[in-house]
Amino acid sequence: MDTEVLVIGSGLAGLMAADLLSAEKNVTIITKSALGKSNSRLAQGGIAAVTTSDDRWTHHFFDTIRAGAFHNNEELTELLVRKGPQQIQQLIEMGVRFDRNANGQYERCVEGAHSVPRILHSGGDATGKELVNTLISRVKERCTILENHLAADLLIKENECYGALVMNETGETFAVSAAYTILATGGAGHLYPVTSNDSSVTGDGIAMAYRAGAILSDLEFMQFHPTMFAGAGSNSFLISEAVRGEGGMLLTRDGERLMEGIHDQLELAPRDVVAREIAKEESGVYLDISMIKRFHKRFPTIAKRCYQYGVDLDSGRIPVKAGAHFLMGGVVTDRYGRTSIPGLFALGEVANTGVHGANRLASNSLLEGVVFANESARWIMQSDRKWITYFTVNKRMKVSEYRLSIDRLREVMDRHVGISRSNEGLTTAISQLEWRGKFIETDNKEDVVHFNMLQTAWLMATSAIMRTESRGGHFREDYPYQKQRFKQKRIIRRISQDDW
Ligand code: SIN
Repeated sequence: MDTEVLVIGSGLAGLMAADLLSAEKNVTIITKSALGKSNSRLAQGGIAAVTTSDDRWTHHFFDTIRAGAFHNNEELTELLVRKGPQQIQQLIEMGVRFDRNANGQYERCVEGAHSVPRILHSGGDATGKELVNTLISRVKERCTILENHLAADLLIKENECYGALVMNETGETFAVSAAYTILATGGAGHLYPVTSNDSSVTGDGIAMAYRAGAILSDLEFMQFHPTMFAGAGSNSFLISEAVRGEGGMLLTRDGERLMEGIHDQLELAPRDVVAREIAKEESGVYLDISMIKRFHKRFPTIAKRCYQYGVDLDSGRIPVKAGAHFLMGGVVTDRYGRTSIPGLFALGEVANTGVHGANRLASNSLLEGVVFANESARWIMQSDRKWITYFTVNKRMKVSEYRLSIDRLREVMDRHVGISRSNEGLTTAISQLEWRGKFIETDNKEDVVHFNMLQTAWLMATSAIMRTESRGGHFREDYPYQKQRFKQKRIIRRISQDDW
């Protein structure tokens, strides 16, 4: 099969790029499960942008790099925040409905590490759903869509990308040749036992890009969201930071205010700081919501889930714990989403544009998705890369025969590559995650995803052992402070040309 643009993944960044490019190019979207099933769709809090006269792009910029522990790419961070207002306007023109107050003005809330309320939301706590559904209704008419198809590997010839090897529902593999291949597969939350992420988010794009020889970086920076639901009998789900933005307070079992004396922004301190405090509190932490008026109306999704899991919101308390939320690192890109491999682009969480530094500022991820999808689409529309069908012959996917079970892998990541790390733990993790033995052919998509999880986990552990300092989402018990010489990125790239 041939297409001019192949978009792999159907979260906000992929859908936005597909929609924009479909105006001039023939676009195919392949997605692992149903169209739109992604982290973007689950996003609750909202989208951050400067849209009031008392806010400035410089304030948004400073909040972003301060939360990012000054590890951000400042040029692209400036681009991100300066483009914010324009992107909000574009979304509104596409049909996105942001919540308004009784006077018809857009409501704006505050979240962790923001100096002013600048987060627009939709449906109370269903912002991602509104954005993704708006884009789905557009791309459905304009693009070829292959649901329940897994991109197993990238098609690389002489270090350039020409599409992907794809597995359909029955595991049959076929080549999709493309002039432009956009990875938009999301992060790696499901490498951990507790996560806010959609079940499809298993590090596939990171592993594929690594196998293709692309440059990756910052994979040690995993953000743990402080407030995941911690009640009994649940796989856990996100309790938006916007709840703390509306006044929600974190309390210990004894009713003490957890963040008192820890950070001057208390519950709204950067996420890494709050998550570490919660993780330390062995007897459990509660989110006190008693001061939030009409909680059900402001947070309908959260209220419904709490109700399903038997939490009485009238008690004013929701049990919470930290969980894996967002991978700051990924496939290194420039302003236009271009990776180190010609023909291969990366957008959204799989990409490392550098705008999030070592710890993403709340509600900047949806903004990143739309800003860089626009930049990338603009570049692709102006270029004219030859569309060569190098790969017509089907080949079967190969995976390592080494199988650390997925449960065990998650245990290893939680224990050794989690909120707190050490040289000893990371050494253990690397030795358990390292794949070995023969490579075997498979027609089973689950085998490929399993191998992707193993490779991504190993890359994250390997990156974490190299950073002998603590910064943002990467905390080392054995090196608890930041070091100036570690401000720079550490890059990682496959150098061996061995077969898989
Ligand atoms: C949240 O609603 O707390 C998540 C928002 C984000 O991660 O940006």
